[in-house]
Amino acid sequence: MATDTGRSIIELGDTISRLTKKLQSACDEQSVPSPTVNDVGAASRKSLLEVDAAAALELADAIRELEIVAQHPRLNLGILALATLDASILGVIAEFDIAALVPLDGSITYSELAGKTGIDEDRLTRIVRYAIVNFIFREEPIGHVKHTLLSAHLTHSPNFNVFLQTISRVFAETNAAIPDALRRWPSTAAQNKTAHNIARATDATFYGWMDVNQPIREIFDKGMEGVSKEGQRLQDTDIRAYPWDKLPGNATVVDVGGSWGHVIKDLAELFPSYSFVIQDLPAVIKAAVLEWKKDGIRTDKLKNVGFSEHNFFDPQPVVGADVYYFRHVIHANPDKEAVAVLKAHLPALKPGARILVSEYIVPSNADAHNLASLENKPMRQMDMMALALCNSKERTKEEYASLFAQASPKLVLKNAYQVPDDPRSCVFEAVYEG
Ligand SMILES: C[S@@+](CC[C@H](N)C(=O)[O-])C[C@H]1O[C@@H](n2cnc3c(N)ncnc32)[C@H](O)[C@@H]1O
Repeated sequence: MATDTGRSIIELGDTISRLTKKLQSACDEQSVPSPTVNDVGAASRKSLLEVDAAAALELADAIRELEIVAQHPRLNLGILALATLDASILGVIAEFDIAALVPLDGSITYSELAGKTGIDEDRLTRIVRYAIVNFIFREEPIGHVKHTLLSAHLTHSPNFNVFLQTISRVFAETNAAIPDALRRWPSTAAQNKTAHNIARATDATFYGWMDVNQPIREIFDKGMEGVSKEGQRLQDTDIRAYPWDKLPGNATVVDVGGSWGHVIKDLAELFPSYSFVIQDLPAVIKAAVLEWKKDGIRTDKLKNVGFSEHNFFDPQPVVGADVYYFRHVIHANPDKEAVAVLKAHLPALKPGARILVSEYIVPSNADAHNLASLENKPMRQMDMMALALCNSKERTKEEYASLFAQASPKLVLKNAYQVPDDPRSCVFEAVYEG
């Protein structure tokens, strides 16, 4: 069998040239100015991914391949090994809200920025110049900080900043402990024998530990909204992918592990005749109710939403709903716990009830054509975080079908809904054939 030797630099260059021309034509057709890296306005316009997802993803892959061969392995690997600093510096930017301090239509000097953050000028300059290497901010003229496409994105959502803080303060430490955890516990499925347990020197599971660390819990909950609205896997993907409008006019939808209800806020506006219930652990629901009161301008109009304090391992109290929706919930549970959660719902299910599981989809071996593709990276990152925090995983379609079948032979995976611009995201739909 022939070995794939990879593409030559000429082949890669030709591919890049062909795809950039294709994307420029698509931009012209859609009257979207094509972006440049310093184009602050591009952060609030359609991106190339939204203009032509397939071409943009293929282009990004060719560029990454060329970048590898343009360097030396010792440099490529060295940069990867120290990528934790990329995350930490993003964490500093989020912690001190530095992006919001830089004007979108002008510049700010290092000394002014230092004064506003309280970090001394030398340190602040070094931090920002580290970020500049990643195209986050730029300097023009020397000593004056301006926005780029990337830094401008950070100004759009305060909660996305909080999500970056969550990564640097909670997840980064945990991620760093993966080698140690695998050395100690190479094959356990216990949720309290994880990298998180080593990093935090605790026997508590991740959610158990957060329950007694409420300031961290609050950062995490705000971060869930931030990542869902501005981050890698958007709630909008679920709203577009799933045919919500085909549910009965008086449908009841339960968002299990719904956090502060950021997805339901959008769905409840779109479907005022449906009823929605946001379920989560007691401390989360108490905080969610307060948050909804603060957001009164928007939430006062939403009469179709209720809150419920509920542990999803206990029998589901909302009996006979049309949809039980689990977003970013099942992936935090190893198989035994995931099946237990699904089983706890069986007594509540009416015939035809749907269980929706919204997660990344891992390609099965038969579909795994290009494992190195960039489109896999956020899914692989989430998979490693699920391992680090909960000894859990992202799953293939077949693995989800098996979880449903283990919970009940009447719970049958029927559909997997997706949108073209996020091919690794999926809403899995199981129907109860009771
Ligand atoms: C990763 S967050 C996802 C939040 C939200 N669904 C989203 O997509 O942004 C998982 C949620 O599950 C909740 N959760 C974890 N264990 C739970 C349990 N035993 N019972 C109910 N909710 C739980 C967490 O509190 C958290 O809000």
